[in-house]
Amino acid sequence: MKKHLFIDGEWVEAGEYRPLFSPYNGEQIAEVAWAGAAEVKLAIEAAERARPIMAGMPAYERAAILEKLASLIREKSEECARLIAFEAAKPLKTARLEVERTIATYKFAAEESKRIHGETIPMDAAPGGEDRVAYTIRQPLGVVAAITPFNFPMNLVAHKVGPAIAAGNTIVLKPAGQTPLSALFLAELMQQAGLPAGALNVVTGSGSVIGDCLVTDERIKAVTFTGSPEVGIAIRNKAGLKKVILELGSNSALIVDQGVDVDAMVARAVTGAFSYAGQVCISLQRIYVHEQLFDEFVRKFVMQTETLRLGDPLDPASDVSALIGLRDAERSLQWIAEAEKLGAIVATGNRKDGNIVQPTVLLHVDATSKISCQEVFAPIVMINKVSTIEEAIRQVNNSKYGLQAGIYTQNIRTALAAAEALEVGGVMINDIPTFRVDHMPYGGVKESGTGREGVKYAIQELTELKLICFKK
Ligand code: SIN
Repeated sequence: MKKHLFIDGEWVEAGEYRPLFSPYNGEQIAEVAWAGAAEVKLAIEAAERARPIMAGMPAYERAAILEKLASLIREKSEECARLIAFEAAKPLKTARLEVERTIATYKFAAEESKRIHGETIPMDAAPGGEDRVAYTIRQPLGVVAAITPFNFPMNLVAHKVGPAIAAGNTIVLKPAGQTPLSALFLAELMQQAGLPAGALNVVTGSGSVIGDCLVTDERIKAVTFTGSPEVGIAIRNKAGLKKVILELGSNSALIVDQGVDVDAMVARAVTGAFSYAGQVCISLQRIYVHEQLFDEFVRKFVMQTETLRLGDPLDPASDVSALIGLRDAERSLQWIAEAEKLGAIVATGNRKDGNIVQPTVLLHVDATSKISCQEVFAPIVMINKVSTIEEAIRQVNNSKYGLQAGIYTQNIRTALAAAEALEVGGVMINDIPTFRVDHMPYGGVKESGTGREGVKYAIQELTELKLICFKK
């Protein structure tokens, strides 16, 4: 299977192709175009030509294209899920959930495209403002560069492409090196949905070559990126005056207060820690449990973890499959070893078979261990004991990241105090930090990023506010 570039509504042959391998069994699954600077330039030119067409397209037409796209994905949902499982080694049952979410994201984008509006400004609130009527409108930015990660190859593409199209922008999309197939399939479906040529262009290849071309080209008006803080910070430093929206990493935490019904929440916590082998930005990585519940929580958490089935992502019974690369599997075991050296105890796990790392639970992890203070992106979770919720909040905040956090508590005062004190973009009360539905604002503080996704909020990021003022 040879996969070309998608530029100006055409499948364009590239000068070079590279093999793409399955993360699960190492078999070659495709040959994918490796774009050079000249091909990226063609994609930007196509997006620039399509810019006035998209900017002039009425909202109801943009909505109809996005609605049509959502229904095409619905028709092909099993094909989409298998594609995700195939290229990302995401277990089929998790991949099916991603496809459902992708449909929801494009439907929200269709709805939100009809709700892009400004407000009237009471100009006479300031001396000199009398006799004026003013209002704001939101206009598309123009060409948007979207750089997406491997972990949600359809839905995190949808979170960039959906709002960009809803707002009347055009896009050059660079999908993750390991997961180009889902993005190229999207391009095919977008074309069938009636998106004009050039409005979506997909370029595959080296992240640094394509990223550099996109981030430094003055025709690109915004860069929206999901990935590592290192790359995100480098993009921001090179982007000049472009808008930059960054969804970066995290070491998301959960607090479990005394008095909580462990049986009612432990399965959910295990799902938060090990879904897609922990390769989720809001994966549950750190758990701080009140001393009164600690032993019970650990026992039940470990028991539940040991029921997870490891195996082929295409087997509908698998819960956990391979990590995206062998290096990540090896790194996982090194990080566990480092935590053990610093005093941690392995309660279960700590083995690997190929790229599959067994779900691992570590207890009493030192705050300086990588497992605690860096983003693990692997099926490893730590559980530490705390004597007060204040102490737990201090531990959660002792992080360079701040994406989402969760707290289970029966005490409304504790919940409200935690909601205020936790230094994150979103606090989940009586749920795990991994909770996300696709219309809620989503984004972080500190090194977890800048700006917000969640369709309506991404549209705000991808439009420019303009004031119009009449003097009577
Ligand atoms: C992410 O990994 O940033 C996305 C998580 C999600 O959409 O559930």
